[in-house]
This record gives sequence, structure tokens and C-alpha cells, in this order.
Amino acid sequence: MMVRAWLMAAVPAALLTSVPTLAQAAGDAAAGEKVFNQCKACHTVQAGQNRVGPSLHGVVGRKAGSVEGFNYSPAMKNSGITWTAETLDKYLAEPKTVVVGNKMAFAGLKKPEDRANVIAYLEQQK
Ligand code: HEC
Repeated sequence: MMVRAWLMAAVPAALLTSVPTLAQAAGDAAAGEKVFNQCKACHTVQAGQNRVGPSLHGVVGRKAGSVEGFNYSPAMKNSGITWTAETLDKYLAEPKTVVVGNKMAFAGLKKPEDRANVIAYLEQQK
């Protein structure tokens, strides 16, 4: 009886403490909008608005190199990547080495939380 009572008390407490961790891992879109300021010289999140870089409207879930009317490098076009939270995290950490020969002139986001936040922001742009 004692053990069962302990379990019933312990389980909800464990659930509560795990919630903030999950929210952090998923990123903060509002903070990500600020990180996106570093991308705005070249990207918009408006559908069909390409600048130096392709529109990032709906980028999460689409194939790399697939925005119509944007002149991608062959490296990006043939990368075979589909943009998910995971592939974006890798690419944004080191754009040059993850898609060798791609023409995005950006050093990368070194902080994992900046990447998680900007990805959360991009996930909302659809
Ligand atoms: C100096 C301009 C520049 C900056 C700054 C920049 N990008 Fe890019 N980005 C590009 C270009 C150009 C491409 C196309 C690359 C190619 O075709 O090889 C690209 C491609 C991409 C792609 C692939 C899109 C697709 O349709 O496959 C993603 C995702 C991306 N950028 C995200 C970002 C994010 C997020 C930031 C800010 C943290 C950022 N970029 C900053 C120029 C830039």
C-alpha cells in the first residue's frame, strides 16, 4: 500500500517537471522572430517573395531547392534534403559544410537555442 501511494504522488510530479524541458526543445517562435532578423537581408517569409535567397514561406516540410522561380545552386537543388526541424538544425549550424557548394553566404547560427527558436518561427510561416 505504501508503495502504491508513493507512485501515485510521484508520477504527476514527474510529468510537471518534464513539461518546461519539452517546450524548450521545441523552441520559442517569438524569440525566433528576432533571430530571423539575421536572415532578412536575403529571405522573406512571404509566399513567392524571393530575394537573394528563396522565400522561406512553408519551408518546413518542403524539399530543398523547390521554390519556383528561384535560381538555386546545383548543390542545393540536388541535395536530396527535405527540410524538417532536424535537417534545418544541421544546415543552419554550418550551411557551408552541410550542403557543400551551396551559395548561401551565411556563417551559421552557433547557438543551439537560436536554431531551435528560428526553426519554431519558420514552422509557423505557412
Ligand atoms: C547573405 C544572404 C543569406 C542570409 C543572410 C541567409 N540566407 Fe538562407 N539562403 C541564401 C541563398 C542564396 C540560398 C540558396 C542557396 C543555394 O541555392 O545554394 C539560401 C537557402 C536557404 C535555405 C534553403 C531553402 C530552400 O528552398 O531549399 C534555408 C532553409 C535558409 N536559406 C535558411 C536561412 C536562415 C534561417 C537564415 C538566417 C538564420 C538564412 N538562411 C540566412 C541566402 C542567405
